[in-house]
Amino acid sequence: MTKNGVKGFSKLSKKAKIEWIANEYLNGDENCVSLLKSYWHNDPKTQKIHDEFIENTISNFYVPFGIAPNFLINDEIFCLPMAIEESSVVAAAAKSATFWMERGGFKAEVISTTKIGHVHFAWYGDYSTLLSFFNTIKSKLYEGTQELTANMRKRGGGIKDIQLVNKTDLEPNYYQIMAKFETCEAMGANFINSLLEEFSKIFQHELENSSLSAQDKKVVILMCILSNYTPECLVRAEVSCSTEKLTEGTALSADEFAKKFEQAVHVARIEPYRATTHNKGIFNGIDAVVIATGNDFRAIEACGHTYAARNGTYSSLTDVDITDGIFRFWIEIPLALGTIGGLTSLHPMVKFAHQLLGNPNAKQLMKIIAAAGLAQNFGAIRSLVTTGIQKGHMKMHLLNILNQLGANDQERKEIKAFFETKVVSHQAVVNKFCKLRGITQKDLNK
Ligand code: MEV
Repeated sequence: MTKNGVKGFSKLSKKAKIEWIANEYLNGDENCVSLLKSYWHNDPKTQKIHDEFIENTISNFYVPFGIAPNFLINDEIFCLPMAIEESSVVAAAAKSATFWMERGGFKAEVISTTKIGHVHFAWYGDYSTLLSFFNTIKSKLYEGTQELTANMRKRGGGIKDIQLVNKTDLEPNYYQIMAKFETCEAMGANFINSLLEEFSKIFQHELENSSLSAQDKKVVILMCILSNYTPECLVRAEVSCSTEKLTEGTALSADEFAKKFEQAVHVARIEPYRATTHNKGIFNGIDAVVIATGNDFRAIEACGHTYAARNGTYSSLTDVDITDGIFRFWIEIPLALGTIGGLTSLHPMVKFAHQLLGNPNAKQLMKIIAAAGLAQNFGAIRSLVTTGIQKGHMKMHLLNILNQLGANDQERKEIKAFFETKVVSHQAVVNKFCKLRGITQKDLNK
């Protein structure tokens, strides 16, 4: 079917956008239109807030918002808000949190909070000329941005460092103005990008008005942009207990469990295939809290994966040590988070998530989210080296299958009881459902 393109779509009203989509793509299907409308918030003011987060909003897309209680972090108990669609994640986080609450909880510390950005540019003269020119104008980069940094400086942040970086060994004529920033409670993207753009203007202006030769005045600014790789915005969270306290309700002894666990982490440290899945599990926990607290999970993930590869091989973000009968398991991860700005004061559920956490500052949120990642990884490895991951996962997935099949309350009860002692698979659930209803699988598709 050939579809028509559209000009000026963004200028149409929401109603007109929906009508256009329904007519062009959905054969005027009124059910689709009703579906989209049924996901609108019933308070028009709240809906308007959502409409204005992005462009061309036509509806909302729900993701479950769950709670993982019992996170004891630095002697304070938190209930973690988690926005995630994957079954088992919240259950695993909550289970790990309770396990560690009974063994002293998480100890977390922020190592550093520096963020970074670059003016990427090309320059064609001799490096030593550029360096001495840069050194003469460096103070102007601070002075010329005083107004932009005033508020942040009042809060204890601002520009921490500005340097010229020579990258010509990697790319001919390629240099950077590399700057480091402290952005306090803000994630800081707008602050950093505005400053970088201002640096580039000051740099070009000073170059133009310098006594350098016409040839040396030539600069091509490629781009001004923060880096989402923030290895100096780092947090560490750890759990520990004596190995004998690691009993966890399976046939494995505490010692056997500790050894298998240690080996599983070592595999993830040396084997990128496993490391990727291992870290994906960590981000199950991290992203869920990052999303619930209105932060940018793409930035957090991109940074975490780069950090995981910092030594040249993609590796685990967590590590383990067993010495003198003490099991220690920790995560060290860069997390550039904000607790003001962005969605934090706009999205009602994000506001609620912050309130639930006691309105943490950015450093506290870094600790909380690092603990979420560590808990998630502990839960995943524990399942993997004991019962296997499918047991818990498929139990949760059973609910999704039952929803897909449209099982009623009685059917759900009977099917859940039936699978208490059996392996859940999609087909096995379908078979059981059909048997209960006295139908065949073909009837399901009618
Ligand atoms: C599934 O979303 C995450 C896990 O695969 C993580 C892991 O294997 O460590 C269970």
